[in-house]
Amino acid sequence: MCGIVGYTGRQQAAPILLDGLERLEYRGYDSAGIAVLSPEKGLQVRKAKGRLKVLEALTDGGKSLDGMMGIGHTRWATHGEPNDVNSHPHLSEDERIAVVHNGIIENYVELKSFLVSTGVSFRSETDTEVVAQLLGYYYRRCGNILEAVYRVLDRIEGAYALGILCADLPDSFIAARKDAPLLLGYGDGCSFIASDVTAMLRHTRDVAYMEDGEVAVVSPEKIVVYNALGAEVEKEHHTVDWDVSDAEKGGYAHFMFKEIMEQPDAIRKTVSPRIRDHRIVFDELKMSKEELCAFNKLYIVACGSSYHVGMVGKYNLERLLRMQVDIALASEFRYADPLVDEKTLVIVISQSGETLDTMAALRKAKRLGARILSIVNVVGSSIARESDDVLYTWAGPEIAVATTKAYSTQLVLLDMFGIYLAELFGKLPYFLYDELIGELLALPSKMERILENTEQIKYLASRSFNRDSIFFIGRNLDYALGLEGSLKLKEISYVHCEAYAAGELKHGTISLIVDGTLVVALCTYKALFDKSVSNIVEVKSRGADVIALTDESLADALSKTVSNILTIPDTHPIFAPSLGVVPLQIFAYYVALQRGCDIDKPRNLAKSVTVE
Ligand code: G6P
Repeated sequence: MCGIVGYTGRQQAAPILLDGLERLEYRGYDSAGIAVLSPEKGLQVRKAKGRLKVLEALTDGGKSLDGMMGIGHTRWATHGEPNDVNSHPHLSEDERIAVVHNGIIENYVELKSFLVSTGVSFRSETDTEVVAQLLGYYYRRCGNILEAVYRVLDRIEGAYALGILCADLPDSFIAARKDAPLLLGYGDGCSFIASDVTAMLRHTRDVAYMEDGEVAVVSPEKIVVYNALGAEVEKEHHTVDWDVSDAEKGGYAHFMFKEIMEQPDAIRKTVSPRIRDHRIVFDELKMSKEELCAFNKLYIVACGSSYHVGMVGKYNLERLLRMQVDIALASEFRYADPLVDEKTLVIVISQSGETLDTMAALRKAKRLGARILSIVNVVGSSIARESDDVLYTWAGPEIAVATTKAYSTQLVLLDMFGIYLAELFGKLPYFLYDELIGELLALPSKMERILENTEQIKYLASRSFNRDSIFFIGRNLDYALGLEGSLKLKEISYVHCEAYAAGELKHGTISLIVDGTLVVALCTYKALFDKSVSNIVEVKSRGADVIALTDESLADALSKTVSNILTIPDTHPIFAPSLGVVPLQIFAYYVALQRGCDIDKPRNLAKSVTVE
């Protein structure tokens, strides 16, 4: 999705903006642009379709643009194709105001016809240009840019994070937000805005999160923030503890591989502080034990891989708690009539904490009276702030679009929460509780064993990379795991993949199995091992080429049926997906590598989906 960065200070702005945009590249984009302001040269705008490299070449790495203040943008096209003209920043007609925007202005057609009727002519097909032109319209009438901003905000509908540069405001620029993330950064003699903290991490860790309806006037020495009514507000500052190096490749060819390798540590960081004296402790939970015991239903809501975490969670939590656990895709939940009330705990899962559908689902659940507990990676993100309770995953910044370490930490945290509740509800015999804690603590080292030797996975990927279609089959937790394994593969390698509950094969999918079809059979769920083997026999007898994944202790038994077997160390069944996902991530990585795909920035995909 689009990215925003803005800077005002004592250094040349353009190189800083380009560096910031580079750090936002991972979000996905198809064009980029910057606008800088200097007293001598006024407002200078450069924008270009394609990778940031094109813009860097156009501006000599930013050196050719004078000025110590500017705004930059990476665009992920929604309204209007990706081209130079549709790229941001967009200008008012008199070219004295430049605007960058994340989100969608929903009433742009109506506003555009109004402006056209007043004689304004448009250059692009975007919804964003309406904001720039409307600002120009009001600024001409009132002569005060801040007032013009408020008038524009009154008229536009939809979601926005805005950065606004006005040629008549020599060292300040303006930012505004509604339903799209925007952060303020307080540096030494300089200030920033950014849609994502990684864009300013090199310069400051002192940040504040803009709230809906707020407008900020950003100057080098201070940032003044006003609420929707124009009253000044005090912002709460947060210190970001992510390392700059966490957001760098550190010798790896791709962020995705680095992040796969970081999983054991990320899990350690997420789990260890929450285990004391061999017991799970959630110091951060505000809900009391009595409140937690009063819920009669859990409802998990999320998108993408976070939803797949929820799929595993549904199996595990129902089993542990003997309580109803529903799950819905956030994009469906928000427009459905879900059975949710004050007795429901809605568990919202989101790496970014900014996914628009997930946010909308959260708000709907709140309106229906539910309490919200979110599992989020980005501290202070919108979903975290609007939840009643937050459990943070400590995965650090995840840069590759295809999630790996965020998925793993979300999963382990959801399992932990399930075990915590089960114990609280008196549903766990103490010996099982003990065993689960032991296994939880052993997960990182078991994962390390998988990561130590990836040669066989690499070999199997080299035999599979030219397939047109791959099927993942599994039962119960293995089915939930297959959903994530298949998504990983399709996201980054563009191979058509489907995940099926193995028991469903006979109801349709088996008609697609022909000689040489690759089937990845997941057999890590011990209780249904024999059933899964039957399904393997079924597909093999139709000519399928099978790669199986199973626990070390079951490999021998499976070798009678399958020759290509990947294994994971044995663990308690509820944690098998946490280990099982690792070989599947690595398999997807190597298939994509062999196919020459842009692994960290797959086509058409974005890291943080802040539009519907
Ligand atoms: C995008 C990302 C996925 C992610 C999904 C949900 O599709 O590419 O990796 O799982 O959004 O994002 P969230 O930040 O809410 O977990």
